[in-house]
Amino acid sequence: MQQIIPESNSSLNQFGQKSVRKLGINPHHWYVVARSDEVINKPLSVTIWKQAIALYRDSSGKVHALEDRCPHRQVKLSHGQVVANELECAYHGWQFNSQGECAKVPYLAANQKLPSCQIRHYPVKEQDGFIWLFPGNETPKIEPMGLPEWDHLNYIATVSVINTHAHYSYLIENLMDMYHGHLHQDLQAWAEASLQNIDEDENSVHAHYTAQSYYKIDKIWSISQLFFPALRRLHSEPLDVSYVYPHWVSTLGQDFKIYCLLCPINETETKAYLIHFTSLNAFWRLHKLPVWFRKFIKDSLFGAAQKLLDGLVIQDIKMIEEEQQAYLHNQEIKNYELNRALVSVQKLMKTQIEK
Ligand code: FES
Ligand SMILES: [Fe+2]
Repeated sequence: MQQIIPESNSSLNQFGQKSVRKLGINPHHWYVVARSDEVINKPLSVTIWKQAIALYRDSSGKVHALEDRCPHRQVKLSHGQVVANELECAYHGWQFNSQGECAKVPYLAANQKLPSCQIRHYPVKEQDGFIWLFPGNETPKIEPMGLPEWDHLNYIATVSVINTHAHYSYLIENLMDMYHGHLHQDLQAWAEASLQNIDEDENSVHAHYTAQSYYKIDKIWSISQLFFPALRRLHSEPLDVSYVYPHWVSTLGQDFKIYCLLCPINETETKAYLIHFTSLNAFWRLHKLPVWFRKFIKDSLFGAAQKLLDGLVIQDIKMIEEEQQAYLHNQEIKNYELNRALVSVQKLMKTQIEK
């Protein structure tokens, strides 16, 4: 018989620790703040855990991240424009280089020096279709998690954006608790999940489930299952979900891989990118075709799972936001949790911010 684990939601638990619903983030990881194609030569304002950041692309195409604050009068630099390689403030036209130093004041008198003001610049990388940012203070010693399937010709990608008024812990717990397939019954994503075991280390929790999948992508015609429900047949597949702090990744059998790349904004707001990959690995004949043709297929099928993915996001957000509201309304009320993967997940979130 499974044990019911009472979970305290209150702001401090019996050990006087902070509630998981109020946890900050461990800044010493790479977070995803934007899609690559969102960053053009016009500055883009993003927020990672209460820090407003201006992202921009310089004349050579390189992406930079500066604190979104002009040190002259404290307005947002993201209202401005990119001039060659500098970011120019909209108000008086001061310009800042990628290191956050003032590089030009257009009305500087001959007897005046450039002000020595300095704003923060952040390590940022463009990789696998996304902009990864490191909000920690020191030089990063780790690499972004990355999505090897993004440019791989054998994977068809679909992206859905999550903007939810909820703490990131609700989103991660939703993604790690595969028993919530119940919520998505009408969308036929997976069914009958059953937790088998859990592996954990200091940066991740891997929960191994078995489940029933609706799709089997093994013959070329089976792609049509993505569009025609009548062609789907339930069959058993391993369903593995991992919280690789601060992101989430999952595989359902050989055919599907999903990532959720997180950008927590504050205690009650989270942005995330959900990326679904359908594998074409089973079609060995396809792999013999010219690369340009395979690229054409990959690009033409981009977004093939959009309806499914957007549908899942709408249903999940509704539940997550209700959980958040219930918590804000009464922080003393208790949940009753049966899934031990969630206990591991909460433990990981807490130990990460103690680092
Ligand atoms: S406030 Fe930015 S240049 Fe004056
Ligand atoms: Fe879901």
